Amino acid sequence: MKIIRAKDYNDMSRKAANIISAQVIMKPNAVLGLATGGTPVGTYRQLIDWYNKDDIDFSEVTTINLDEYRGLSGDHPQSYLYFMHKNFFDHVNVPEDHIHIPNGADPDAGRACAAYEEIIRAAGGIDLQLLGIGTDGHIGFNEPGQAFELGTHCVDLTESTILSNQRFFADGEEVPRQAYTIGIKTIMQARKVLMVANGSNKAEIIRRAFFGPVTPEVPASILQMHPDFTLVGDSDALALI
Ligand code: GLP
Repeated sequence: MKIIRAKDYNDMSRKAANIISAQVIMKPNAVLGLATGGTPVGTYRQLIDWYNKDDIDFSEVTTINLDEYRGLSGDHPQSYLYFMHKNFFDHVNVPEDHIHIPNGADPDAGRACAAYEEIIRAAGGIDLQLLGIGTDGHIGFNEPGQAFELGTHCVDLTESTILSNQRFFADGEEVPRQAYTIGIKTIMQARKVLMVANGSNKAEIIRRAFFGPVTPEVPASILQMHPDFTLVGDSDALALI
């Protein structure tokens, strides 16, 4: 486990974007595992900036996003597919048919998750997985207490996750209660894992996840066992370690 201390959010975003950029330069047809949430937005912004300066090319890259709300189709403004288009895909040259995200519009969870596992397998696995972290230690939508050995599956979101994601939804609009997510097993099979974390509300969970026991109660803690895991955090998120 490697921990990189960044001064602030911009510095964190730049350092993370540098690692992703290095991956794409070394392997232009890399398979990138991508994440949503507020934290990686600055990383995407930095990559877009370098793309606009011709410093990085995504034309051979394949992307596999972590998760999607069950019941939201890709044109819903709160769907993760919509988020990814707005914050990244619409501004760079990842070919449309190289973009993958679980199909939230498919009500058949078994079918949607099996199809996604097959996409990951056919892509040859994930070269670099970008992750944020939930305040309860979730990664993707792998909530506390779930088995580590799961592949893509349907989860019931915890109250704390529903509450923290409420800020993205309009007043009175319900946050979906379920999501399809890549499992911990799939994340652990990624060849490199890169986590970004910022803000003092992440400090306690960062301490528990990476300096406490490895336990399904803190899903991110399993990353202590990953052979190539890098955490890039700002000073607030790393304040307790
Ligand atoms: C959601 C996403 C996670 C993300 C988490 C934290 O639950 N499924 O992938 O890491 O939110 O989001 P934020 O970066 O906004 O704190």
